[in-house]
Amino acid sequence: MKKKSIPATKKQVLAKYPDGIERLEIGSGDNPEPGYVHADIQASPKVDILADARKLPLPDNFVKDEIRAVHIMEHFCHPELSSAQMRNDIGTTLEVLKEMYRVLAPGGKFFMVTPDYEKITTSAAKRRVSFDRLQSWTVGGHLNMFDVHHWLWTHDDAEKWFSLAGFIELQDVNPIRARSKIWNLNWTDPKLGQNDRWFETEWYHWLFFEGVKPR
Ligand SMILES: C[S@@+](CC[C@H](N)C(=O)[O-])C[C@H]1O[C@@H](n2cnc3c(N)ncnc32)[C@H](O)[C@@H]1O
Repeated sequence: MKKKSIPATKKQVLAKYPDGIERLEIGSGDNPEPGYVHADIQASPKVDILADARKLPLPDNFVKDEIRAVHIMEHFCHPELSSAQMRNDIGTTLEVLKEMYRVLAPGGKFFMVTPDYEKITTSAAKRRVSFDRLQSWTVGGHLNMFDVHHWLWTHDDAEKWFSLAGFIELQDVNPIRARSKIWNLNWTDPKLGQNDRWFETEWYHWLFFEGVKPR
């Protein structure tokens, strides 16, 4: 039987989604969030669009409502501090944010989850989390070349780079209160008290951040 190919060009994407896309997830990998169209640089049966987040095969203003990016934005380099060669080979955080801005329709939202460098280093200094966890949160899973972290974000980075890309209404999003349907990450609210080792959880170490493309 002929293998079904995954849309990878603008023409193929337009043929499959002639009216645009409501909600897109980039870097969805093996963990796609239901309710989104899934794009990733690595092909798999769970991927709807084969694409590099640096240059999506989508027209401008194509995604109407939201782009979600969970554990991908740390896979890009720093826009100034990384070398020219690294920036060119891997791509930068700012470059990807600008690409998200381009494909989002005015009023659309970009939401990301990424390791929070400040939270992780604070936990490390207080020896709250085991070193093997800290290693993978810091450098990535290293399953392949797309599973390597190139820059860990701080909250200030997010504010700066989202603004430079043009996003407004920047805010932290508490996933437990704002997105109660999303439980596939290890999100446990310390205030709910179900987990007395809540400080080891992902919730406590990730940055949940969003911005809106102005209308
Ligand atoms: C750590 S996995 C996260 C997967 C999933 N979002 C999750 O939370 O479990 C990172 C994903 O980003 C994808 N990725 C890395 N670089 C990418 C790029 N330049 N463009 C698109 N996807 C990329 C990888 O292929 C991988 O599926």
